[in-house]
Amino acid sequence: MQVTRIVLSAVVSFASISAYAHQHANFQEFFSKQELAEKRLIDTGNGKPQWMPLSQALELGEFAHQNGRCGGFFDLTDQKEVSREPLVQVESFRLALGDRPMVQQAYLSQALTVLESQRMFKTVTDLSAFRNRFYKSETGVQSAKFIADQFRSIAKNRNDITVEMFAHSKWMQPSVMVTMKGTGPKANEIVVIGGHEDSINQMSFGMPSMNAPGADDNATGVATILEVFRVLVDTNFKPNRTLMFMTYAAEEVGLLGSQEIANKFKSEGKAVVGVVQFDMTGFPGAGDQIVFMTDFTSPELTQFSQKLLDVYVKAKWSNDKCGYACSDHASWNKAGYMAVMPFEATMSSDNKDIHTPRDVINKLDFNHTMHFAKLGLSFMAELAQ
Ligand code: BES
Ligand code: ZN
Repeated sequence: MQVTRIVLSAVVSFASISAYAHQHANFQEFFSKQELAEKRLIDTGNGKPQWMPLSQALELGEFAHQNGRCGGFFDLTDQKEVSREPLVQVESFRLALGDRPMVQQAYLSQALTVLESQRMFKTVTDLSAFRNRFYKSETGVQSAKFIADQFRSIAKNRNDITVEMFAHSKWMQPSVMVTMKGTGPKANEIVVIGGHEDSINQMSFGMPSMNAPGADDNATGVATILEVFRVLVDTNFKPNRTLMFMTYAAEEVGLLGSQEIANKFKSEGKAVVGVVQFDMTGFPGAGDQIVFMTDFTSPELTQFSQKLLDVYVKAKWSNDKCGYACSDHASWNKAGYMAVMPFEATMSSDNKDIHTPRDVINKLDFNHTMHFAKLGLSFMAELAQ
């Protein structure tokens, strides 16, 4: 429905979009004239990709946000086609998920108490202190290095953990990829916890000096992932399956980083059995509840996560829809993997200051973020075995 509204508004008011964009955007700071004119293959989430100049895709996103909507799109141009068919091993995991008993009561009753909201507050403070984390800016690169350093310092005494920078050929900012190797027969199966590291200011898109603190979107998600990782390490957790922690570059410009990663994993036949996406975990717009996005996600993994909330976290939850491919879970979903997207609020009650200089820490509630960290820790610990 969201997509229909965006497409409709694009048709009805294309002239006003262009006028608007010319007044407020300066895409040329980051993209050459040639790049802006180059036709890109854009899918707004309806599965009907269209070729349009890059400038038009960027303007659509910007215009939608200024009008209180999101203008999500997949930029498919540089993506190798991968099959949407799930791997056999992943499919059998999916079919068994409904009847899977909870097996981590003993571990989690302890480990959940080790999570600290103060640490997530600190990470969001540090990440939002970068002027921006834009995928094409120097501070975007620095912020990715900062995140990798945090992972490294937590993992320094573990030789079964690797921290890598995943380089992307088309832009400067790398994704960060951390692996805690599993042991035994399930070690080739992978569980992923992830969220995007980049930020954007859509009011002054592409200005190198633009201020885009991205405290909620998505320093909170990165902070949540880091804290789950810290507790798994500090409690000396040793998984059977391989656990991966990822912060994706270039989400805000068409899910570019996560698409490249998910497609690569698929083409290499990697058996990712579940992906949890944390994108915005700090603004309790609909009160004290976690909202599951039911589009571009797996119903089985969503139900499983809701069970985790009931059993371990004892937090309230409900369902909603983004209405379009709103975050990196959609990249995994499109590659045939199961993904879940627990979100901070309903679509209508979300944080209206994202993508502006007003996306700052003081409107966030870290008790809310704590519920996401508890869910993330339960998710990783349960699916590890
Ligand atoms: N965190 C947002 C997604 C979001 C915003 C979900 C509000 C639910 C409510 C994400 O970082 C984002 O901004 N996504 C883009 C889409 C992307 C494909 C360019 C968006 O929503 O415009
Ligand atoms: Zn965003």
